[in-house]
Amino acid sequence: MSPFKSIAIDGPAGAGKSTIAKKVAETLGYVYIDTGAMYRAIAYECIRKNINIKDEEAINTLCSNIDIIIQYVDGEQQVLLNNENVTHYIRTTEVGNVTSQISVYHNVRKKLVELQQKLAHQANVIMDGRDIGTYVLPNANLKIFLTASIEQRAQRRWKELNDKGDQTQLKTLEAQIKERDYNDMNRKIAPLKKAEDAIEVDTSNMSIEEVVKKVISLYNKRIVEN
Ligand code: DC
Repeated sequence: MSPFKSIAIDGPAGAGKSTIAKKVAETLGYVYIDTGAMYRAIAYECIRKNINIKDEEAINTLCSNIDIIIQYVDGEQQVLLNNENVTHYIRTTEVGNVTSQISVYHNVRKKLVELQQKLAHQANVIMDGRDIGTYVLPNANLKIFLTASIEQRAQRRWKELNDKGDQTQLKTLEAQIKERDYNDMNRKIAPLKKAEDAIEVDTSNMSIEEVVKKVISLYNKRIVEN
């Protein structure tokens, strides 16, 4: 059994998983692991190499030839793809949409799940994704399923993009989020779903601080007091 504790945070795109997980990690002194970034790095390489994302064989070959390493600089997760730091190139909407399509493939998931499980054996971690509580860390000490309405998630994304000068329409973002939810929930391998023993937290009408407080209080009940 691992001497380390783990917290799993799953949920759909835009529910606030990474913001919350980062703050909880800071408060508890846990390592934050953003698993979406790993899938995004593979998608980024597919785009860059012009690989047809419907061609599973080509993606299998790509997976056998790439190396993904996770490092931390000033507490921030960095993703190295064949030793190149791609952290700042993988957050675009285009990469996000391709990611939800290539993350259906068995070899992509196998490679990244192995890496994620290895990392969870090296420190106390809070890991966010889609299949952490159901599949990657089925014995996590605390499992949270973070949700929010599609309207709220699109609104948050719109604000984030708007602050950066991106004029994408709210309706377009709503449609993209719906499509990603559909892909993530309906894929054959490790689809997005709430683990039976996860606690659902609907963040639609909660501030970031309120959600962090809620997760810390669940942590105190489930991990500290047990
Ligand atoms: O959390 P994110 O938006 O960075 O994730 C991008 C995509 O990666 C998401 O649409 C589905 C996929 N993903 C996954 O399949 N499993 C995970 N554990 C994390 C992300």
